[in-house]
Amino acid sequence: MSFDTKAFRHALGCFPTGVAVVTATADPEPMGITVNSFTSVSLDPPLVLWCLHKNSDRYRTFVEAPGYTISVLGTEHESVSSRLSKPGEHRLQGMELLATDLGPPALADSLAVFECAREAVHDGGDHAILVGRVLRFARREAGAPLVFYRGRYGALSAAG
Ligand SMILES: Cc1cc2nc3c(=O)[nH]c(=O)nc-3n(C[C@H](O)[C@H](O)[C@H](O)COP(=O)(O)O)c2cc1C
Repeated sequence: MSFDTKAFRHALGCFPTGVAVVTATADPEPMGITVNSFTSVSLDPPLVLWCLHKNSDRYRTFVEAPGYTISVLGTEHESVSSRLSKPGEHRLQGMELLATDLGPPALADSLAVFECAREAVHDGGDHAILVGRVLRFARREAGAPLVFYRGRYGALSAAG
């Protein structure tokens, strides 16, 4: 049976998600990647996950990192999200950053920030599933989330 991968991707895109940037410490400077695969896993212990394509040129850095920081993006972060989703665009230069206790910087004005230690890396077909243990977190009281749906950015509209 043939499987239409492109149609499959389009069908998956009907599931609306938030958008996050994952940052890791790297030599000579920290790097980031835009993801929408971020999700919660467990409250106790506090675990989250995200998925990373094995072809990403950031693959080794993130899979081998002892930890990473996950910044949940707001609508004002759309250009940052676009930039960090371009192949080869990993640098955080020119972005407003916040120092974190564990190392990898967070994006300023994120809706929430999760500082994670590497808990596990699982095989997930053409992606790796990175499970992080949340050691510290913070959240903003208000703010509009950046949303990704059918391959486009959007925002939540108020419930009627
Ligand atoms: C909204 C959005 C969400 C994305 N989510 C993921 C993701 O969860 N995992 C992933 O590996 N790539 C994801 N990507 C693609 C990466 O951001 C990036 O484009 C890709 O890794 C190619 O660049 P690289 O080879 O330099 O890493 C996403 C892109 C966009 C625009």
